[in-house]
Amino acid sequence: MSQQLTEQVHGHYIGGEWTEGDEDTFESENPATGETLATFQRGTEADVDAALEAAEDAFEEWRSLSYIDRAEYLWDIYHELRERHEELGEIVSKECGKEISEGKADVTEAWHMVEWAAGNARHPHGDVVPSEVAGKDSFMRRKPRGVIGCITPWNFPVAIPFWHMAIALVEGNTVVWKPAEQTPWCGQIIAEMMDDAGIPDGVFNMVQGFGDAGAAITDDERVDTVLFTGSAEVGHEIAGKVGGEPGKLAACEMGGKNGIVVTEEADLDIAVHSAVMSSFKTTGQRCVSSERLIVHEDVYDEFKARFVDIAEDIAVGDPLEADTFMGPAIEADHVEKISRHNDLAREEGATVLVDRFELEESEIPDGHDGGHWVGPFVYEIDYESDLRCLNEECFGPHVALIEYAGDIEDAVEIHNDTPYGLAGAIISEDYRQINYFRDRADIGLAYANLPCIGAEVQLPFGGVKKSGNGYPSAREAIEAVTERTAWTMNNAEDIEMAQGLSADIKTSED
Ligand code: UN1
Repeated sequence: MSQQLTEQVHGHYIGGEWTEGDEDTFESENPATGETLATFQRGTEADVDAALEAAEDAFEEWRSLSYIDRAEYLWDIYHELRERHEELGEIVSKECGKEISEGKADVTEAWHMVEWAAGNARHPHGDVVPSEVAGKDSFMRRKPRGVIGCITPWNFPVAIPFWHMAIALVEGNTVVWKPAEQTPWCGQIIAEMMDDAGIPDGVFNMVQGFGDAGAAITDDERVDTVLFTGSAEVGHEIAGKVGGEPGKLAACEMGGKNGIVVTEEADLDIAVHSAVMSSFKTTGQRCVSSERLIVHEDVYDEFKARFVDIAEDIAVGDPLEADTFMGPAIEADHVEKISRHNDLAREEGATVLVDRFELEESEIPDGHDGGHWVGPFVYEIDYESDLRCLNEECFGPHVALIEYAGDIEDAVEIHNDTPYGLAGAIISEDYRQINYFRDRADIGLAYANLPCIGAEVQLPFGGVKKSGNGYPSAREAIEAVTERTAWTMNNAEDIEMAQGLSADIKTSED
């Protein structure tokens, strides 16, 4: 399936076959227009069961290949992602509403991850560890865990599946994947790529569908590791359940209530630029998007005036047009959720500075009346620890300005006062303030003089507190999809123990 939309109902990919499953179907919708893009089978427990069986059956043969042979399959996908960059970027933008440079960056991030995982196959794995005993050699080795269940979100519909699956596959695991129900078209294309690359039957399986299909994957005892990226609500449920099952692991990356600290030593050009990018790129729908701007009183008025000025004017529009900065929200329910968050801020005493929630008729591009449009909502509020609007993630262009007085310690205290801990930034020209933030901000991804979005794939991606456990991407994901073996071999003719432990066997004859 490519840019051509068809009447066909697209199925699941199980055991190397395209399968139809049940009669239930669902549609992918263009969030900028409301039009239907394509129709897909809705996965059931029976489809998940078949996919897990295929993945289990394929495991022994796949794990027996060398790292380098497994990676060969992914190099084909790497080239295809690059060759189809423009086309796939447009599909991402059409299906999830991100503006076109972001649609294309999603595909770029995907091939970067494939490159990292496949390239890593030729790098040294494990460590040689010295032993106290000269005749012993010790090594850290890794084995694949088995079947990996991957559940991915709609906002990075090509990149995040490869965060999970490129690593899982090169490390010798087999995969059962459920793409987000909002972006099944991207899911279909990725499955076609795996098929074209000739990945052996059953090694990669995809079941389209909703949360019930996802739960059927994560709950099944044949799944050894769950890699999840998505909402905190679902992620905590998965982490809780999986944590109670011996031998099973979950690496979950969830949302954030991310903050940017602008100190009295900030370069305000960088501050405003970073804050606009962090708050409004992807229409605020990144887990790393910023919803709190914590600004020192000495620079507050100027920062506020400049930020508000841009928020008033930021270009919301057709994601396929190059001069658009913000596309639509993903779906109608999400527009309602954003509206509830805006109302909540008002109820809690916010002074609203920009309210473009309901865009003017003239701002909605021609032919896009059915889209899920929202614009920036910016407010200021006196900081209080238990305000819900400063603690609950909206996942939209909904931003609080919080003025602080005092030192960097005071700013970081406010910054850390949320249940989440994913991403954040400090804007300052003072290295002591920067280093304090680096060491004391409770987050997994920290930036200085930059937006808090746009992490590269070779860094661990994940958070602390409610934002996650484990890092379902890059090098850190290897921990979640492999078992480590501490392997010790004796090269001597006698047995000699470490720690002074006697190796003598004593009998009553002695
Ligand atoms: C997400 O926020 O949902 O760091 C993923 C970034 C991207 C990934 C974001 N590389 O902004």
